[in-house]
Amino acid sequence: MKPRIGVLTSGGDCPGLNAVLRGVVLAAEKLGWEVIGFRDGFEGLLPPGDHIVLDRKSIDGIMALGGTIIGTTNRGHFIAKVGAGDRAVVPGEVIARAREILNKLGIQSLIIIGGDGSMTTALQLQEAGINCIGVPKTIDNDLEATAMTFGFDSAVDVVMDALDRLHTTATSHKRVMVVEVMGRHAGWIALHGGIAGGADIILIPEIPFDYNKIAAAIKERDARGNLGSLVVVAEGARSKDGQQVKREMEGGEFRLGGIGEIVAQEIAKRTGKQTRCCILGHLQRGGAPTTLDRILGTRFGVKAVQLANEGHFGSMVSYQNYQVRHVPIADAVNRLRLVPPNGEMVQTARDVEISFGD
Ligand code: F6P
Repeated sequence: MKPRIGVLTSGGDCPGLNAVLRGVVLAAEKLGWEVIGFRDGFEGLLPPGDHIVLDRKSIDGIMALGGTIIGTTNRGHFIAKVGAGDRAVVPGEVIARAREILNKLGIQSLIIIGGDGSMTTALQLQEAGINCIGVPKTIDNDLEATAMTFGFDSAVDVVMDALDRLHTTATSHKRVMVVEVMGRHAGWIALHGGIAGGADIILIPEIPFDYNKIAAAIKERDARGNLGSLVVVAEGARSKDGQQVKREMEGGEFRLGGIGEIVAQEIAKRTGKQTRCCILGHLQRGGAPTTLDRILGTRFGVKAVQLANEGHFGSMVSYQNYQVRHVPIADAVNRLRLVPPNGEMVQTARDVEISFGD
């Protein structure tokens, strides 16, 4: 029997996951290994073991596909996170059942493609003696241990495209268009998407805002003769005296969202201008990956197989200084990378007359 390696995709989907899977399969086949893909994240590891053999044929043409061909979930038996920073323990009995399946299938190591929560689970599997390699994934781009995650560039592209479209309707109607974007506790998607799409105001979690300052910035634009204004609001943004707007609890964490509508109402109240809110939501997670995400995903997948081949278990692929390297998963979890409020990106945005409402 050929040596076997397992792979699963866990947490929220994002463009580029299939590029990673393709990279894993082709690099593994080159070594003469067989790849077993577990369905629906860690859940596929539970008896009877929901899996498929991933070979050349199964990955043919998947590079351009969003989502993941083996499915994913951010719920289930392996949830190891209960909110930002908190760590829950995956029951030993659940890990034992997963190990039983891996042993039965003759799988020597497992590649886990996921975000911070999934890496927290990966760490627990590794600590329990299952050979794990992590591949970081999130559109939020908020993991300290890697300079970039695939999925982010595709999400930013969606925001930029939306702003391009909303710009024309904003100017035609002389309206304020408020666009709510994802990103959880980090403002990266809002900041990058906002700069690329020519936003006038960007509101991010790292810089609490003041409604009066936002209104003043819009009035100033009006006075200068600008016809419309574009406001990008990260879902995790909050006013100086307010809280993040949360929806229901799911998968061990609160879903964020709803701040866009509130910001739109407050702007209308303070400026008297017609204001509309557009929530981009899961549009940011769908569709074909950008060039950058296809390449990054491929490099991450190939690197994960190399790490398994070299026996670097317990490590996570990481992008640093334009190189794909690796770091211990233990050093990567629970470390969020947020937008530095006084950093170069924010300063650049301010220099092109973008207001942060502060
Ligand atoms: O972490 C990725 C992300 O898309 C966040 O930006 C967002 O808050 C969350 O996932 C949404 O999760 P769900 O798909 O469970 O609604």
